Amino acid sequence: MKFGVIGAGQMGGGIAQVAAQSRFTVVVQDVKQEFLDRGRAVIEKSLAKLHEKGRLTDTPDVILDRMQFTTDLNAFADCDLVVEAIVENEQVKADLFRQLGQIVKPDGILASNTSSIPITALASASGRPDKFIGMHFMNPVPLMQLVEVIRGYSTSDETAQFVTQTAERMSKTPLACNDFPGFVSNRILMPMLNEAIQCVMEGVAEPEAIDGIMKLGMNHPMGPLTLADFIGLDTCLAIMEVLHRGLGDDKYRPSPLLRKMVQAGLLGRKSGQGFYTY
Ligand code: NAI
Repeated sequence: MKFGVIGAGQMGGGIAQVAAQSRFTVVVQDVKQEFLDRGRAVIEKSLAKLHEKGRLTDTPDVILDRMQFTTDLNAFADCDLVVEAIVENEQVKADLFRQLGQIVKPDGILASNTSSIPITALASASGRPDKFIGMHFMNPVPLMQLVEVIRGYSTSDETAQFVTQTAERMSKTPLACNDFPGFVSNRILMPMLNEAIQCVMEGVAEPEAIDGIMKLGMNHPMGPLTLADFIGLDTCLAIMEVLHRGLGDDKYRPSPLLRKMVQAGLLGRKSGQGFYTY
């Protein structure tokens, strides 16, 4: 199977890596060569670590040989499945799927790794809504078990079945849900992260204490502010805006502190500074 991935950032790189580990032929596209180089370097590091721990069935070199890195969208023409993992912005994603719908072979399936944007809207833009689906991996992709499979209004049973089986071939556990803002994962997770940020803004406790309380008290593996930094504060804000707009309740209003930090360029781990310094 030929597997396409758009975006070589934290999610796209991880999805491409796991696809190649699963012996698919993989094409990764990004807008600039430097983003591809950075993505490849992250993949090389992750593969080396997994190899050291004896968790790979093939050597890193063999896995990397299955991957092609390109800035050319036409490289997706003969892909059986293309998963998009670019910036969480509906307009930008819809424009991309409009182009992809013209490029990818007619029976190719298109999927979005979006955290919250309506699958049905992106499906319409693609011009092949029956062959469109949400395939939502978790971060970091090589380590996390879940793939949330989101059916759009017109997604066919065949498409859902194909993507479910593909997730299983990638040694993941697919779980199905329908197309509502934030799906299941982020509709429940994001308001908690947003509330933790609101606690920082109101001076309820220091970030370390908020994270410690949630880790030790609720048995969460990671505190909410650490997790928000890890996801990316820009992505968190984009998701809260989708929830707020889509569900229409002020309980989903993005914290003003979250908004301000994104405006200031503090995006968490990927920019070196968020609630913590990296
Ligand atoms: P990121 O900022 O690390 O990477 C995005 C990549 O997409 C960048 O390399 C950028 O150059 C590239 N890109 C932007 N526009 C493009 C275009 N038109 N064509 C090709 N490449 C383009 O972002 P991240 O965290 O990887 O998120 C990507 C998507 O995955 C978003 O939709 C996000 O909501 C979703 N997601 C993120 C999770 C997280 O924990 N960060 C978890 C699950 C889903």
